[in-house]
Amino acid sequence: MPLLRVENLTVCYRNKNEATLALHDFSCQVNAGEAVGIIGQSGAGKTTLALALLNLLGDRAVIESGSVFFRGRNLFKLSPHDWQSIRGKEIALIPQASQNAWNPVLTIGHQMAEHIENQLGIARSEAVRRAAAALHEVGLTETVLSSYPHQLSGGMRQRVAIATACVTEPACIIADECTNSLDAAHQNDVLQLLDNLSQTRKMAIIIISHDLTVIARLCRRIYVLYQGKLVETGPTEAILRFPTHPYTQKIIADTQYLCASLLAV
Ligand SMILES: Nc1ncnc2c1ncn2[C@@H]1O[C@H](COP(=O)(O)OP(=O)(O)O)[C@@H](O)[C@H]1O
Ligand SMILES: [Mg+2]
Repeated sequence: MPLLRVENLTVCYRNKNEATLALHDFSCQVNAGEAVGIIGQSGAGKTTLALALLNLLGDRAVIESGSVFFRGRNLFKLSPHDWQSIRGKEIALIPQASQNAWNPVLTIGHQMAEHIENQLGIARSEAVRRAAAALHEVGLTETVLSSYPHQLSGGMRQRVAIATACVTEPACIIADECTNSLDAAHQNDVLQLLDNLSQTRKMAIIIISHDLTVIARLCRRIYVLYQGKLVETGPTEAILRFPTHPYTQKIIADTQYLCASLLAV
């Protein structure tokens, strides 16, 4: 049985006069210890999917149909109380633009330790120790703990967000555009870290990105999302070699062109 399974999910945003169909009949699944990729251009519905998986869609979103099963339980049937034992502990989200998600008046150490304390119910001193260890894993030192968010670069704050999601050792991590503000070297480190977590701790990882190189580097299976619909899925190698949908063909051709032009310089 897959750890997480999305079945025929349809999500619509309803504003006063208009409705936007953000996801239409979308299905996917991930097993423990597996990294799968969701690729799609801006507006394809990727963040809507990530938020739906954690029951974090806002008031304007309506789940028209579909289900999400985690360890066989339908997440859409959980009470707010049940969610407390799932969100962050079992399924963690590294949100899009997470580098901007920090409270400016509290130190990083305060915010990380509070999160760990709340999630794991451990003493503050132990939470601080785990926060420091998690920072090391993403290539940061524990001096970051005493920093305020504005004292760190966007890339550093993003790595702190990744460390914060990983520190509670959830069974599943959903990473929404998690390498966007990182330079190439740190992007590589973060992908390596997520790869290690999926292999050594048998974490399921869903990498959501518009960047094919990020997805192809880490994921053995890919789902291609286009205008809210799943247009193709399969093993990464098969999709890269034999893409069938015009959007997939275009992103592969664009990536090849970019690499070829860089080599030609
Ligand atoms: N809160 C919202 N209200 C109305 N429309 C929204 C809202 N959030 C997203 N959308 C729309 O839903 C579609 C999918 O958005 P999103 O899931 O953010 O895509 P992606 O993450 O792939 O860029 C887009 O057309 C977007 O404009
Ligand atoms: Mg998005």
